[in-house]
Amino acid sequence: MTMYAPASPEHPAATDDPITTIVIAGATGDLAQRKLLPALYHLWIKGRLAPNVPIVGFSRAKMSTDEFREFMWRGIQEIGGIEPNRDQWEAFAPRLSYFGGDLGSTDDVGALGKHLDETEAGDPHANRLFYLSITPAIFEPAVSSLDACGLVEETPDTGWRRVVVEKPFGRDLATANALNRTIHNVFREEQVYRIDHYLGKETVQNLLVLRFANAIFEPIWNRNYVDNVQITVAESVDVGERAGYYDQFGVVRDMIQNHLLQVLALVTMEPPVTLEADSLRNKKVEALRAIRPWTASEAARNAVRAQYVGYRDAHGVDPHSATPTYAAMRLYLDNWRWQGVPFYLRSGKAMAQKSSEIAIEFRAPPHRIFPANPMWGPLANILTLRLQPDEGVHLRFAAKLPDQGMAVRPVDMDFYYGTEFGSEELPEAYERLLSDALDGDASLFIRSDHIEEAWKIVDPLLEAWEDSISHPVQWYEPGSWGPETADALLSQDGRAWAPVGDRHGRIND
Ligand code: BG6
Repeated sequence: MTMYAPASPEHPAATDDPITTIVIAGATGDLAQRKLLPALYHLWIKGRLAPNVPIVGFSRAKMSTDEFREFMWRGIQEIGGIEPNRDQWEAFAPRLSYFGGDLGSTDDVGALGKHLDETEAGDPHANRLFYLSITPAIFEPAVSSLDACGLVEETPDTGWRRVVVEKPFGRDLATANALNRTIHNVFREEQVYRIDHYLGKETVQNLLVLRFANAIFEPIWNRNYVDNVQITVAESVDVGERAGYYDQFGVVRDMIQNHLLQVLALVTMEPPVTLEADSLRNKKVEALRAIRPWTASEAARNAVRAQYVGYRDAHGVDPHSATPTYAAMRLYLDNWRWQGVPFYLRSGKAMAQKSSEIAIEFRAPPHRIFPANPMWGPLANILTLRLQPDEGVHLRFAAKLPDQGMAVRPVDMDFYYGTEFGSEELPEAYERLLSDALDGDASLFIRSDHIEEAWKIVDPLLEAWEDSISHPVQWYEPGSWGPETADALLSQDGRAWAPVGDRHGRIND
C-alpha cells in the first residue's frame, strides 16, 4: 500500500520518470466530471501529479480539445462540486486533450493510438493507464480493439500498460466470470485495477489501522466478545436520474455485492502479514469464502427486500418493477473467529439520512449487578465506525448517572476526524485510487477471485427474489429507516438495529 511523502504545490512529484498517459474512455460521462477530473485536479494541486502525466479524454461525442477543457471546467464545478481557481485551472488544463471516436471500432482506436504517440512525443517507454468508464455492453469490443490496435501491448521495450475497470462487474456469477475472461484474454491480472470506491475512503482504510495498529481491539474481535455486527449504508437520495440503470440492477447488485461486502471483508479478515496487495487481498477473499452459503430458500428467509413508495413512478422504471431499493440480510461466517455471530447488512435509497456505519455490538456482562433501566435497553458496549458523514469512531459504554444512586446509562467516547485532524474535507476516494493505480499499488483494488466470491454469496438471493409471488416486494416510506420486516429480521434473534446518527446529540433510532 502506498505511503505518501508530504507533498505540496511548491514541491511537486518528481519528473524524471517516463511519461505516463492517462486515457479516460467515457470522458464526457458523469463519472469523469463528478469524480475523475476533480480527483486528478486535486492531486495536481497537492503536488502529487507529475507534470509529465497527460490526460486524454476519449468518447463518442465530437468536440475539440479546447471544448473538452471548457466542458471539464464547467463540469467539475457544476457536477463535481468543486470551486477551482481559474489561474490554477489554466495551469492544469494544458495536460488535457480530447479525441473523439468509438471504442469498439478498430479504425477509431487505431487513430487514438496515433494521438497517444503524438502526445507522448514518440517516447517508446511511455506508460499508459486506461480508465474504462464505459457501459458494460461495449466492454468486450472495447478491450478487443485496444488489443487489436496494439495500444495495450506491454513488452520489455514499452512502458507499463494498466487498465482501471469500473463496476458493475457483471450482474451475477456467470456474467462476472465472462467479464473476467474477456479481461484476462488481453491483460494479466496484475495489470487490472478493478475499482470499488469504498476502498478509497479514508474511513474504510482506517478499519485496517484500527484493527491492526492497535493491540487493544484484536483480542476482543471475535465470537467470544462480539455479539453481532451491523453494517448500514443508508442514502437519503432516491434513484434520481439513474432510475433506468438502477431498475436493471437494484440495491443488492449496486451496493451490497460490492461496497458492503468489501466492508464486511475488512471487518472479518484475519490479520495480513504485510500491506502488500496480495497479502491483503488473500485475507479478504478468505473471509468471503467463510460466509455460509445459502440455498435460494435460506437466502429468502434471511433477507428482506423493499422499494420506497413512489419508486415505480420514476422515469425509466418498469411500473411493475420488483427491483429492490432497500435490502437487509443476516449472514454467518463459518470459521474459528466468527462462528455463530450474526452479521446484519442493510442498504437503501430514500432513507432517513445519509449514513454509513459499522456497529460492533459486544456481549452483555455475564452478570448484572446494577439496576436495569428500561429506557436504555440492555446497555451493550458498541464500537461504531462511522464511515460517512461526520467520520469518526465511537465507543459506547455504561456510566454512572451522577447523584442517582447506582443508576447507569450509556455514554459515548468520541473521535471525530474533523476535530482531530482539522476541519478540511477528507480527500475523495478517487484521489487515492487514481494515485495508487499510477503507482502500481493494487492493494485497494479488487482481484478477480474476490468478485467471483462476492457473487457466489448474493446469487442465491437474487435467484430467490426472481420469484415475486412467493417473495413479494415490501414497501417503505421515503425518509424512513426501511420496512418493518427489516426490524423483524433482528427481533427474531432478540436484537435490534443499533442507533445510527451523527452523534452530535442527534442519534436516530
Ligand atoms: C455507487 C452506487 O457505487 O455508490 C450509487 O452505484 C451510490 O448508487 C454510490 O449512490 C454511493 O457512494 P457514496 O460514496 O456516496 O456512499
